Amino acid sequence: MSDLQLSDTTNYTKVCKLSELIPNRGKRVFVGDVDIAIFLIEGEVRAFSNICPHQHSAILYDGFIEGNNVVCPAHGWEFDVCTGKKAGGSRGIKTFPVLIANSYVWINAEIKESSIF
Ligand code: FES
Repeated sequence: MSDLQLSDTTNYTKVCKLSELIPNRGKRVFVGDVDIAIFLIEGEVRAFSNICPHQHSAILYDGFIEGNNVVCPAHGWEFDVCTGKKAGGSRGIKTFPVLIANSYVWINAEIKESSIF
């Protein structure tokens, strides 16, 4: 993931330093009132809704990574971290575009890469 110039971050919100992220461990951030889980997975930062659609719990930041999926720690529902799709199911989670600029993580929470509800 390349480090861009600050001018490339229009519509993005700075949420944390890249160095704060621990591989495969989630961090909870907010962009306005949007509750977001971010993970550093194999050198790429992924951002998606922190709300598990099973019981609408704000819990996915506390999930664990298995392959390309985040696994909800409550009952084990799995979601693809890139597409937000639930494995074998109809419901999924929203994912958000991420930029790394000036050593910070920036998220565009206005654009929905994936809206599966
Ligand atoms: S709350 Fe996430 S699987 Fe039940």
